[in-house]
Amino acid sequence: MNEDLKTPIQELPAVEAPPLSPADDHFVCQCMSVTRDDLIEAVRCGAATVKALSAQTGAGTACGGCLPKLAELTAETLWAKATCLEIIACNEDVRSFRFQIPESSASTGFEAGQRIVVQALVRGVAVQRPYTLTSASTRRDHYEITVQREPGGVMSNWLFDHLQVGDEISLLPPGGSCSFVSYERRPLVCLVGGIGLTPALGIARSFAAIGSKRRLHIEHSVSSLDRAICDDELATLAASSGSTTFRLRVTGEEGRIARADVIALSGKFADADWLICGSANFQHGVRALLEESGILAHRIHIESFVAGSTPQQDDREMAPVPSPRRRAIVGGLTLAAIAAFTAQAVFVAQWPLLHRLQTSIVYSAVTGFVLILLVLLQWRLSYARARGDRQDTSRAYGLHIAIGPIVLGAIWLHSTHFGYALSMAVSASFLLSLASGAILSLRPRSETWKWPRRIIVGCHILLSCAGSGLALVHGFTALWF
Ligand SMILES: Cc1cc2nc3c(=O)[nH]c(=O)nc-3n(C[C@H](O)[C@H](O)[C@H](O)COP(=O)(O)OP(=O)(O)OC[C@H]3O[C@@H](n4cnc5c(N)ncnc54)[C@H](O)[C@@H]3O)c2cc1C
Ligand code: FES
Repeated sequence: MNEDLKTPIQELPAVEAPPLSPADDHFVCQCMSVTRDDLIEAVRCGAATVKALSAQTGAGTACGGCLPKLAELTAETLWAKATCLEIIACNEDVRSFRFQIPESSASTGFEAGQRIVVQALVRGVAVQRPYTLTSASTRRDHYEITVQREPGGVMSNWLFDHLQVGDEISLLPPGGSCSFVSYERRPLVCLVGGIGLTPALGIARSFAAIGSKRRLHIEHSVSSLDRAICDDELATLAASSGSTTFRLRVTGEEGRIARADVIALSGKFADADWLICGSANFQHGVRALLEESGILAHRIHIESFVAGSTPQQDDREMAPVPSPRRRAIVGGLTLAAIAAFTAQAVFVAQWPLLHRLQTSIVYSAVTGFVLILLVLLQWRLSYARARGDRQDTSRAYGLHIAIGPIVLGAIWLHSTHFGYALSMAVSASFLLSLASGAILSLRPRSETWKWPRRIIVGCHILLSCAGSGLALVHGFTALWF
């Protein structure tokens, strides 16, 4: 180890290592609000590996702290030993640690911006923390993490004061939702503060190693010049690259990033993805500036270093997404109801009271109006998705699933038969749209089901568009004539 790095060993705090995801029986994955029941249901539906479980439920895709719990369910061994190869001082409080890549992860690879989870025995207690990979994604000889010493922090102080070159620690394979590909056309602007530089550093090194043409701008805010991290390397990298630019902002001298800076950047990097990473204050402040400057919410990506917070941390609560079991029940019942509706329509079943009501213009107008309102409510999900609002999307998704069977009931109350011409086209598109939605609810997400699922989602959207458009034409013509 470098002589400079032999700082006096700090007294470690009593080890009550805070768990990554607080013990909570209900939510196994705090970041993505995934419950134990959701996971057990996914395992029952065929998710046999942590990867499949993650893909199906979203658990483990943020900080990664819950991955060991997922591994308990699938009986996999994820931890792998890795030797520390090198320790490099970046500034007084920040060091990079390089580890040999474990054999089990050698072929896995990772995307720039992703993290690994490091586990060490600190005074006999297994402590684990996620750290962003700062090595280029092309490197096959080591993983690098860059860590800031936290006053009183269990793992960071242990890494600084106890870990020596040649020592072994345990690692979980790379993962996480913060990842940026080099081949995307849209520019990427990283507004990062302090140790929040690490995802941007990993991205810059990865893009440079691949020779990416994607435009990348990094603005790193630090309070004083001695807090800079790898600034010379980033400046050199920017000077030799036609697509990367770098700016070190020393806030003690130049002030914090302001709205005018964001507007200037958004003019220079039109339609960019924006990555924010830094302290909670930095994140909230910069996010507010971006929103005030008209940057669309779904273009803003926040990488939070607080385990257990959602990646796009927000003050509002995420609505719990219906569990796979509940979705499957609703899907199955909807398909059965569609079959029953079709059978009674084909065999012209008699419902005397309904038939009498359905001949009344007022009744038809009211039920038709309710039907159109329900259909418009169903489009709320697409609207929330287009706005990139994760909280609103999670709420709208639950509502979308619940309203499906109600739409079918409203169709039946409006007309028990298919009708002719336009009416038949409206009924057919709605029924097929409901059936495709029900099939999507029945089958959980999985790798093998990915493409059929995409095709069914496409059909579901097209049929919904056709049904909504035809229903409006049908409504207008019925009222007009
Ligand atoms: C996805 C992700 C990526 C990350 N990437 C990086 C990275 O690249 N580099 C990096 O340096 N960090 C990164 N982190 C943060 C990292 O995981 C650790 O949280 C960080 O190093 C602090 O860990 P620690 O064990 O040293 O501190 P901890 O022991 O967890 O303590 C954290 C702070 O809380 C205080 N504290 C602890 N217990 C208490 C208590 N009971 N009451 C009051 N205060 C308390 C401590 O004094 C300390 O200041 C990342 C986190 C996430 C989620
Ligand atoms: S607790 Fe599951 S990803 Fe963070």
